[in-house]
Amino acid sequence: MDGLSPNGKASPFADCRPNGALGHGSDDDSTQLPLYHKPRDYVEASVCHVKDLENGQMREVDLGSGRALLIKEHGEFSAMAHKCPHYGAPLVKGVLSKGHVRCPWHGACFNIATGDIEDFPGLDSLPTFQVTLPLPPPRRCRLLNTFSALQSQKRSKPMARCSAVINSSTGFSHVLIIGSGPAALVCAETLRQEGFTDRIVMCTMDRHPPYDRPKLSKSLESTAEQLRLRSMEFLQDHDIELFTEKEVVAIDVKTRSVTFEDGLRMEYRKLFIATGSKPKPMTYKGKDVRNVFHLQTPEDANSVARLANNKNAVIVGTSFVGMEVAAALTDKAHSVSVIGIETVPFKKALGEKVGKAIMKLFEVNRVKFYMLNELSEMIGHHGQLKEVVLKSGKVLRADVCVIGAGSVPATGFLKQSGIHMDSKGFITVNKMMQTNADGVFAGGDVVIFPFPPRNNKKVNIPHWQMAHVHGRVAALSMMGRATEIKTVPYFWSAMFGKTIRYAGYGDGFDDVIIQGDLDELRFVAFYTRSEEVVAVASMNYDPIVSRVAEVLGSGKTIKKRDVE
Ligand SMILES: Cc1cc2nc3c(=O)[nH]c(=O)nc-3n(C[C@H](O)[C@H](O)[C@H](O)COP(=O)(O)OP(=O)(O)OC[C@H]3O[C@@H](n4cnc5c(N)ncnc54)[C@H](O)[C@@H]3O)c2cc1C
Ligand code: FES
Repeated sequence: MDGLSPNGKASPFADCRPNGALGHGSDDDSTQLPLYHKPRDYVEASVCHVKDLENGQMREVDLGSGRALLIKEHGEFSAMAHKCPHYGAPLVKGVLSKGHVRCPWHGACFNIATGDIEDFPGLDSLPTFQVTLPLPPPRRCRLLNTFSALQSQKRSKPMARCSAVINSSTGFSHVLIIGSGPAALVCAETLRQEGFTDRIVMCTMDRHPPYDRPKLSKSLESTAEQLRLRSMEFLQDHDIELFTEKEVVAIDVKTRSVTFEDGLRMEYRKLFIATGSKPKPMTYKGKDVRNVFHLQTPEDANSVARLANNKNAVIVGTSFVGMEVAAALTDKAHSVSVIGIETVPFKKALGEKVGKAIMKLFEVNRVKFYMLNELSEMIGHHGQLKEVVLKSGKVLRADVCVIGAGSVPATGFLKQSGIHMDSKGFITVNKMMQTNADGVFAGGDVVIFPFPPRNNKKVNIPHWQMAHVHGRVAALSMMGRATEIKTVPYFWSAMFGKTIRYAGYGDGFDDVIIQGDLDELRFVAFYTRSEEVVAVASMNYDPIVSRVAEVLGSGKTIKKRDVE
């Protein structure tokens, strides 16, 4: 499908080419081509005829000992690694537009000339290949790079090291970052990538180095090591000091210092607050009963998986996290029950029709729903959970319970700080992620920030991808290189081997236009506000969400009539 509408209407997507669908030539010839192992571990191969690729096309080509992505745009050839360094998506199925390729899975963007990551999620960039078109005819594209680039398929950007003389017991850091989630990590790495040579300290309540939090609810048995984003060695090699299990309990913006739970203090020149979210408090009886979890750490997820084995699991709340856990438990637990206050899951985020279709998927997979209902009490036996009582009076047998009923910003420790927060506790920042306090920046789940597509209304967008963007903008602002947030919000959720992808900001949508087949769970849903498409969600319809992100990211609007 080249346009948005399967009904063949003119599309605002003409500039963005989804390449998976472009009928690539076979790579047969490339596999038979001679390989030239050059000195110093280089690989060179002739991969295809120049005429095999038209402008705006991409093609995965084989160099014998690995594959690469060959691209032709505006008459120029370029080549880079073919897999997205985030979760390994085949970039050939992504969207090529205006000098970059957008990943089909979660929307990361890579510059086709440099391989640099230009939009998130993910931390790494792509190695590029030298492309030559030797004369005389027949002109074939030749690609050149090292074996290691071909094998690794990713690279991190060069980073500066700290040149300040540091005594690690010193209670001062030029940049102090609170948190070790994506906002924090991207901030630290961006500072080093941009040549920052002073001290960077990242302190976190977490026990582990930064890890892939979204996988907690999708892959319950993974250990912190398996989920790790960066190792301690990586951080040390780039002079990013990480203090784990180090909770900040207060900030004094006048003396530019923070106080930790153990009573120690640290002064800063610049501070970045990226403390994320914490579970929304719930009122119910039986709070001391054990085996009730909020999914916050790998240990929580591992315990839930272990306790649910052949037992009864109850999920309170139909948030994405709650539903993902329910899905992940169906092949382990004896029973999985979900309690929700709405008529269907995801009603507010995805609309009733999509919510209903997804609910059916869960029901087919043995999940029992108790909707329009609420938790009243947890009842234990010898302190261990045995029953969950609903407000309706219904009693469910339960050996383990996961509460996934939303979150609130983790800003309790800022109450006396003078840093501006809204009535819900979100830190308010400007477009450079600055707070009202001098030298204090904030980003990620914890902030509301001015969002250009909504006339700079301050919004909270608690996505993994957006936290990366905030971290980068904050780092550049700290270095006096003010830049603005230029991204399209993007998130995903995975259940039963299917992924919901979502781009845009659909808050307050007033209509949903669905194409495809909801019953077959192969659909795209356009969320509109007045006459404009403000967000899109899909299942089994790649790369539509990345294409819409591309259009919205270029500043164009998509009208409702374009998708009806
Ligand atoms: C189980 C789960 C699944 C998710 N799945 C998805 C998904 O599929 N897609 C998606 O887009 N988003 C998903 N999210 C949301 C996503 O993880 C968040 O949007 C993202 O992690 C926010 O990043 P952040 O850097 O703002 O904060 P976080 O990643 O939340 O990190 C906050 C950090 O601050 C630290 N901290 C907090 N308070 C203090 C303090 N007082 N002192 C010191 N350190 C402190 C914490 O220890 C932590 O290291 C999921 C979230 C969870 C919990
Ligand atoms: S796999 Fe490419 S952005 Fe996630």
